[in-house]
Amino acid sequence: MLLDKLQTLAQSGQYPFHMPGHKRALDFPNPYAIDITEIGGFDNLHHAQGILQEAQERAAQMYGSKRAYYLVNGSTCGILAAISAAAPRGSRILVARNSHKAVYHAIYLRQLQAEYLYPVDTASGIQGQTTPQQVRKYLQENSGIRAVVITSPTYDGLVSDVAGIAAVAHEYDIPLIVDEAHGAHFGFHPAFPENATRLGADAVIMSVHKTLPAFTQTALLHLCSDRINAVQVKKFLNIYETSSPSYILMAGIERSLEIIRKEGDQLFAAYVAGLEKFRHKVASLVHLYVPDAVAFTDGEAYAFDIGKILIETQGYLSGQQLQELLRNDYGLELEMASGNYAVAMTSLMDTQEGFDRLAQALCEIDNSLVGTTPAALLTPRDIYRTPGKRIEIHEAEESPHTLIPLSAAVGHTSADYIYLYPPGIPIIVPGEELDEQTIKTVTKCMEVGLDVEGLHTDTTSTFVYTVTM
Ligand SMILES: Cc1ncc(COP(=O)(O)O)c(C=O)c1O
Repeated sequence: MLLDKLQTLAQSGQYPFHMPGHKRALDFPNPYAIDITEIGGFDNLHHAQGILQEAQERAAQMYGSKRAYYLVNGSTCGILAAISAAAPRGSRILVARNSHKAVYHAIYLRQLQAEYLYPVDTASGIQGQTTPQQVRKYLQENSGIRAVVITSPTYDGLVSDVAGIAAVAHEYDIPLIVDEAHGAHFGFHPAFPENATRLGADAVIMSVHKTLPAFTQTALLHLCSDRINAVQVKKFLNIYETSSPSYILMAGIERSLEIIRKEGDQLFAAYVAGLEKFRHKVASLVHLYVPDAVAFTDGEAYAFDIGKILIETQGYLSGQQLQELLRNDYGLELEMASGNYAVAMTSLMDTQEGFDRLAQALCEIDNSLVGTTPAALLTPRDIYRTPGKRIEIHEAEESPHTLIPLSAAVGHTSADYIYLYPPGIPIIVPGEELDEQTIKTVTKCMEVGLDVEGLHTDTTSTFVYTVTM
């Protein structure tokens, strides 16, 4: 039974360096005793006027936005609603190509024409920032863009110059939507970047469940200006979000914000001290490398979220091997592992004991690598290339499809997404060309054991859906 498995995990002593941000460390009343959806006296999320409206207003005030919407379908439904409201059906939008799949799903649903900006890569090949210069160049040379969409911070914690990008977008009277799914903790302590809600973004979507002590699925959508029509946003939230929102989840959002309001100063101070101590301990690693904010050049990232612990393996072992060692030998569960690095996700609920265990484990693993020789590993730069768009996502999705072997797909147009999960950023989106290099990369990802989604495998071969030629 699922419940038995969850309870076994809870009692296992396995330390969670992954979301949700409450780190399974809070108490809560018996969920059955308080589980309701809209009944008399409890307001209605889709027409909030009472207790929920007051809670949303407090959230807006805390983040400095004009309006905040509680979300129980994750940042996903906030991204779908914000993009749908900002970009009329069939219009053009400018999107950072390292976006989460939810952005592409909005593009599909609204039949948008997507124009892409490719993020800058860091020296080790991790995807970095989108710059104001990239946005300016595109908008100078093209017209008809109805919204700009960026992800800041990225899944890996790299932050873009939101204020600079907002200023450029506004020169052209275009709204900026920021997927800040990983940045709900921004703006509460000087060690972390300012929140996009205070930097000129027009809509900001944040998963409170990722970095604050809130239940999985909970998120906030903020509107910070009138550039995106609030009536439209509500209309689309009504479409994309459940009509039976869980009061347990909503109470969890409110509670996480109350924790920040009441105990945030002490909790953030302890969190930052714990991170600094951890980072000091791992600074002398020889084979593994944990980049700090100063590791990224101004070109690579405008800022960095020190709460994201990236562990670069520098070829001595793969990200997945590191993840397995930490899981099996040290009882530490990471958020993500890829070719040449792994990610430990932290929050203000992490403990010093947890940080010390991770630092100690990394030092021991580092020592065990003495005398080994590094090998070339796949980096995000290899994985996330620039396959050309041939047709729009909705055109590809709605064309007749043919399932063909991946090895025979060179030159075909993909009819499906291919992505690693996590982080859920498509390597290929429907309508893009399956070129030789991309097929080699996807094949390599499978060979090294990465979790590739969007392909279909039987005992003999791997297949991909393509647009019928
Ligand atoms: C960058 C980014 N945006 C959006 C999402 C979707 O967030 P949610 O899981 O809250 O729907 C994710 C999820 O991992 C993400 O990493």
